[in-house]
Amino acid sequence: MCGIIGIVSHEPVAGRLVDALKRLEYRGYDSAGVATLEDGVLTRRRAEGKLVNLQRRLEGDPLSGTIGIGHTRWATHGAATEANAHPHMTGKLAIVHNGIIENYRELRAELEADGAVFESQTDTETVAHLVTREQKRGLAPKEAVQAVLGRLEGAFSLGFLFDGEESLLIGARRGSPLAVGEGEGEMFLGSDAIALSPFTDTVRYLEEGDMAVLRHATIEIFDEHGNPVIRPIRRSTGKAFYVDKGNHRHFMQKEIYEQPEVLSHTLGAFVDMTTGRTRIPGGQTLDFSSVRRIALSACGTGYYAALVGRYYFERYARIPCDLDVASEFRYRESPLGDVDLALFVSQSGETADTLASLRYAKGEGLRIASVVNVQESTIARESDVVLPTLAGPEIGVASTKAFTCQLISLAALAIHAGVARGVISPERELELTRSLAEVPRLANEALALEDTVEALSREMATKRHALFLGRGFSFPLAMEGALKLKEISYIHAEGYAAGELKHGPIALIDDTMPVVVIAPHDRSFEKTMSNMQEVAARGGRIILFTDAKGAASAGSDMASTVILPDMPEILTPIVYAIPLQMLAYHTAVQMGTDVDQPRNLAKSVTVE
Ligand code: F6R
Repeated sequence: MCGIIGIVSHEPVAGRLVDALKRLEYRGYDSAGVATLEDGVLTRRRAEGKLVNLQRRLEGDPLSGTIGIGHTRWATHGAATEANAHPHMTGKLAIVHNGIIENYRELRAELEADGAVFESQTDTETVAHLVTREQKRGLAPKEAVQAVLGRLEGAFSLGFLFDGEESLLIGARRGSPLAVGEGEGEMFLGSDAIALSPFTDTVRYLEEGDMAVLRHATIEIFDEHGNPVIRPIRRSTGKAFYVDKGNHRHFMQKEIYEQPEVLSHTLGAFVDMTTGRTRIPGGQTLDFSSVRRIALSACGTGYYAALVGRYYFERYARIPCDLDVASEFRYRESPLGDVDLALFVSQSGETADTLASLRYAKGEGLRIASVVNVQESTIARESDVVLPTLAGPEIGVASTKAFTCQLISLAALAIHAGVARGVISPERELELTRSLAEVPRLANEALALEDTVEALSREMATKRHALFLGRGFSFPLAMEGALKLKEISYIHAEGYAAGELKHGPIALIDDTMPVVVIAPHDRSFEKTMSNMQEVAARGGRIILFTDAKGAASAGSDMASTVILPDMPEILTPIVYAIPLQMLAYHTAVQMGTDVDQPRNLAKSVTVE
């Protein structure tokens, strides 16, 4: 959730630390801080709130050190105050941390009994004091860190800077990601390749339990037993991570507009566009012919994508699927006897609950496949089969293009599975992949509805609550539409299966309640219309997303109708997602909220 960065160089580093934190700010923005050595002495600047506050502080009170660490925080333990902002310092070291030290209470009590004085409420500060205590007992920095790592429970990536050590940074990871990068006479440490991208394209990812010692000219990596190890170099596509809003006002808007292009790239990985045949990307194999059952799991928007995936697999490949939110799956102790494949969906590839579910499923002996956007991520690295979405970096905290890329990947995968099981004939495969090839064009047509949707958002912005309804493929979309609206506009929104309305939520309907109905003219349409009538009869204000046929048969009870192009059923979740994203986006803009960095959220949720 938090972002960390470290640089050991011969040039002043504060500017580049802040620059890297800008690229990491999507991981959290409750506070930020940097520490460097000024003439060998640890010195830090910290500020509550967004990075811009830290930048201002540094302008007034600059740092000139040539070695340093930085942090952008998503608060877990302790409020979002300056005192709880990282780096935390003792006289001997400064530390930055991403993750949670679960046994920090016991550790803190032990340290306080030993005379340590704490300045914050964070779990992180216990690590600073533990290492300092080892140093006071005579251990050198590396040995002191090594001695402490074994005492920590929970998930962490850590960066250390030591008083008087102008050529020494130490990093360590367990459960949270950490990468090291090599430059010319300077070395880097960071939460992900995006942070390091402008500095170097020579990046190594630390593995579970690794510790790295960075000096001006060398990086040494040690495994959890302290043995020196070599981790492979991954050439990151460096400049591709350039983070820029282009002509758009927000990253979210830019990412919504990127969808035709990234959907086309992603589809190209799963379908050979010359033959129209589906495939597993990258020459990997994933044989669905004997899969009896799939266990799907993910969090948030990824969960809604997985729910659409379940509908696809059951409809097009006739494979029964289980689906859980990952935070439940990991503890549910579900009997997995007839499950042959566990399939995870994650944009970041670092979500703690999804990763824990993956490890649980692996422990149960299942084959693991993951639909992931960040291909160097832990989830990707720990999967047997990596199903890449090629959405590119998603910076807006609310997921948009990653979601639709997940959907198109799952659609292609379900078709592939259907073919493998003899449920889909080669002719039907071609028909379906031809339909998928229409998605970029249809996505463009959906984008052209922006003005209509923006007009609707003006009324939505005056509301405090909203309901979203859909059936079949549109049910997960109703939940995703509601999630988008609540996370960026802070309007309370709930998504329901339209058929569930009468079992409770209908009590909420009155003439102030906007009800967004997602109803392409598909096999569920008539049923959804009946539910819509129930809303209309109680004065609810219906905003209908449908196609021309749907609009013609829906009657005149709508406050508004948004008409999308006609399309085959398999495409509707992908294309209808776009106007729902735009509705949330424009509502949030009307309300003046922070669209790209909504309160309390972070892009990469590496804590439980
Ligand atoms: C919502 C959103 C989150 C994520 C969730 C899982 O817009 O982005 O709900 O979908 O935190 O994250 P990933 O997909 O990175 O595992």
